[in-house]
Amino acid sequence: MSEDHTHTAPPVAELANATLNDGGSTVMRAHFSQRVPIRSILGRPDGGAGLAGQKVTVGGWVKTGREQGKGTFAFLELNDGSCPANLQVIVEASVADLGPLVPTGTCVSVSGELKTPPEGTKQKIELRVDRVIELGPVDPAKYPLPKTRLTLEFLRDFVHLRPRTNTISAVARIRNALAYATHTFFQQHGFLYVHTPIITTSDCEGAGEMFQVTTLISEAEKVEKELKENPSPSEADIEAAKLAVQEKGEVVKKLKSDKASKEEISAAVAVLNKAKEDLSKLEERAKLQPGLPKKDGKIDYSRDFFARQAFLTVSGQLQVESFACALSSVYTFGPTFRAEHSHTSRHLAEFWMVEPEIAFADLQDDMNCAEAYVKFLCQWLLDNCYDDMEFMAKNFDKGAIDRLKMVASTPFVRITYSEAVDILKQVTDKKFENKVEWGIDLASEHERYLTEVKYKKPVIVYNYPKGIKAFYMKVNDDGETVAAMDVLVPKVGELIGGSQREERYDVIQKRILDMGLPLEPYEWYLDLRRYGTVKHSGFGLGFERMILFATGIDNIRDVIPFPRYPGRADL
Ligand code: 4AD
Ligand code: MG
Repeated sequence: MSEDHTHTAPPVAELANATLNDGGSTVMRAHFSQRVPIRSILGRPDGGAGLAGQKVTVGGWVKTGREQGKGTFAFLELNDGSCPANLQVIVEASVADLGPLVPTGTCVSVSGELKTPPEGTKQKIELRVDRVIELGPVDPAKYPLPKTRLTLEFLRDFVHLRPRTNTISAVARIRNALAYATHTFFQQHGFLYVHTPIITTSDCEGAGEMFQVTTLISEAEKVEKELKENPSPSEADIEAAKLAVQEKGEVVKKLKSDKASKEEISAAVAVLNKAKEDLSKLEERAKLQPGLPKKDGKIDYSRDFFARQAFLTVSGQLQVESFACALSSVYTFGPTFRAEHSHTSRHLAEFWMVEPEIAFADLQDDMNCAEAYVKFLCQWLLDNCYDDMEFMAKNFDKGAIDRLKMVASTPFVRITYSEAVDILKQVTDKKFENKVEWGIDLASEHERYLTEVKYKKPVIVYNYPKGIKAFYMKVNDDGETVAAMDVLVPKVGELIGGSQREERYDVIQKRILDMGLPLEPYEWYLDLRRYGTVKHSGFGLGFERMILFATGIDNIRDVIPFPRYPGRADL
């Protein structure tokens, strides 16, 4: 066992903050593995220089490899996903066959000694290998992700391999950091994390963009297949089976009246029972109908899995409200689904949403929470993901780091919808595709103009016309607008949508009806207003939109591990 294997594991927090450790000359081993994360070597302020002389085992995938010195040794750039940087690894031909080590994508686990490289090289430390412990080879003629620069669009055809690229791994670390920051923020502020259901029977946004959850279709297919293999019994078959039951019944009756032996009678009864069973099986099969079950000309959902129509959630808001109206400050953070046919770079069919809900809070409180949360996320990335952010700034968006700094430190602009419309109407330096008029739903081009051109910082637009917003938003005293707010940010447009909720029973009931929605699925929601109603507010932050905003990446399909959008759901 090499020396490093005898170290005890470092505390978790220390490992997570490996970059903060100027840690003298001790290496930190990964937990539950013998390897040393490359981040704990290269992420140190001294770039790893202080670790010269240490024996370590590392594992990773070869980014680039080349044989040198006429095949006497090989240089490998090794990445294990713990940080954007690669560790330079040198293997001599006397240690291992070099050919299989160098192809891009090869996995190796190697041990050796960390050494100070010769003067004039950019590395602060390199690994001289004395043993190749494991090898996961790659046939370079077949590996789909060669060393050349690949477009993000190309990589979408390889969602299972793309985590090995610099960009997707950096996005994964940033995404992870933002999730951790989200829980940290809400936990620090006394919010309780609630798991809202993914399968739901109420349409939160009332927009009818829900994916249906049903087993009726697969069951209908099963029946069709079954009927093809084994057609329904004819009436004659059933008649014959009935006749058989009758005949066997007669036999039993006769034996009984003839006082036959017990054995004889029970044998005949067994035959009769078998005939009855055959008949009921046939009758059951005769009931099988191809296609979906119908009642009064409509699909009969009482025969579906949940005995009613069910959907994938578009938002956990309604359910999380029931917890806010009992536990006061809560949040949910989970996947949401929308069957919108939007082929834009800002929409996914499956995305993640962070939804806090606060009792005893009005729209101002809601905006304050949203602003504090977004600022916290930005500062968190600056504090915890600077190396990945530098990668983003270099490769995707020069302004990415400055944008985070600006948002973390600048108060957001707050304007009413009416003010926003007035501003947009006066715009002369740009022609909008969608005409601006009071009452329209602001289009992405309008939102981006406000945040990117006019103010160049995040803008919260509030008090929207009630006609364009969901039924649950509180109607303002003017009777025309609702206490809604959207947070707009550069690069993305709408990042957050939220509102104060309508807590008055009569008003919200009327809003549901006015919008042409059925009352029945919302009766439970109305109970929250019937019993112990409370002023409350909340919002939803599109998690992928936040990642777009932070990284400067253009397409939302590249910031979620497995993107789902019209026509596409790989893996
Ligand atoms: O504005 P939305 O529709 O608000 C709600 O769903 C509320 N029920 C939230 C609440 O008050 N609890 O969606 C919230 C955010 C949007 O601002 C946007 O960032 C994101 O979710 N979003 C999407 N992100 C990716 N793909 C889509 N198809 C999205 N639709 C909304
Ligand atoms: Mg919205």
